[in-house]
Amino acid sequence: MTHDHGTPPVRVGVLGAASIAWRRVVPAMTACPDVDVVAVASRDPRRARRFADRFGCAAVTGYEALLERTDIEAVYVPLPAALHHTWAARALAAGRHVLIEKPMATTAEEARELTALAESRGLVLRENFMFLHHPRHRAVTELLRDGRIGRLRMLHASFCVPPLPPDDIRYTLGLGGGALLDTGVYPLRTAVHFLGRGLRVTGATLRTRPRDGLDLSGQVLLAADSGVLASLDFGFEHGYGARYALWGDRARLTADQTVSPPAELRTQLRIEEQDREERLLLPPADQFLACVTEFAAAIRGPVASRGTGRDPWHADAVATLELVDAVRERAVRVPCEGDGPQNA
Ligand SMILES: NC(=O)c1ccc[n+]([C@@H]2O[C@H](COP(=O)([O-])OP(=O)(O)OC[C@H]3O[C@@H](n4cnc5c(N)ncnc54)[C@H](OP(=O)(O)O)[C@@H]3O)[C@@H](O)[C@H]2O)c1
Repeated sequence: MTHDHGTPPVRVGVLGAASIAWRRVVPAMTACPDVDVVAVASRDPRRARRFADRFGCAAVTGYEALLERTDIEAVYVPLPAALHHTWAARALAAGRHVLIEKPMATTAEEARELTALAESRGLVLRENFMFLHHPRHRAVTELLRDGRIGRLRMLHASFCVPPLPPDDIRYTLGLGGGALLDTGVYPLRTAVHFLGRGLRVTGATLRTRPRDGLDLSGQVLLAADSGVLASLDFGFEHGYGARYALWGDRARLTADQTVSPPAELRTQLRIEEQDREERLLLPPADQFLACVTEFAAAIRGPVASRGTGRDPWHADAVATLELVDAVRERAVRVPCEGDGPQNA
């Protein structure tokens, strides 16, 4: 099959019948004319079949069997974080482009290895931070550039979700669980996006579960070389909230619903000054579709731009995990008091 521009769609295999694949990413892929979902692999044949029936693709038992298929050019990896490095590396070594769920890996060292492997093989490796594909962040960057909030002094960013079911992968240390790796990476990545790489962690606190030290929520302070400061919070212990604010010496700009805004939502930017508030209403945008479309475009785009060691998506993924490493190293751990089934 070829789509309108005469370029064949990218043939994708899905490695794991994950919830996020089912709810968000594979529906976006099937809606995208540039992508053809060819097969899904699960450890459980029944899970693979259920998935395959819904999306009209082949069912495969076992991840290795998916990589052995010759009709797949690219692999989407929605596995628990601790398995990202292993399976992304195997897919790249098998010559497949990779869309890896966030975070790309559990440490900066693992992310450096993956990005180097992709670059050495001339393959596309993208981390599935869908929120970055919403056009309102470009609108924010333009407002900053135009001086609408004056000189930027501070960034605040939050992403918190309510407690999860007790058997969720995020509560298992060995699978790369914990709030920092799951939710903390959103505000960290937001800081890298607006303030650049090379941020310093100047303070951090993690609320941890006494049983095994798993972090359930936390706060991070950052400083940029420019002198701009950031304060971030995240966790699995609060009512849902996802927002950021950029605070300048003239005004403060706030964006809400920053992680997963529905495609039909007209998102707002709020600009507050002492005596007035302005609300900018932006057109709806489908960040999920935009994300998979960009992945396909990178694969069908010029090969010469790969392997340069300067891919900004790679550098930002590594920079974010460097901050994760630094938070782990210097965070003050505050044990939680067992006020819920997950905390005991
Ligand atoms: N970008 C986003 O907006 C977003 C949102 C949510 C989650 N995520 C990311 O997506 C990934 C999956 O999250 P999820 O919420 O979809 O989790 P999930 O439903 O638990 O899916 C994880 C999948 O991993 C596979 N798996 C392999 N080994 C496993 C093991 N030992 N234990 C449990 N599962 C194992 C399972 O697939 P089979 O059983 O089919 O083999 C399972 O379906 C995580 O990295 C998460 O950070 C991203």
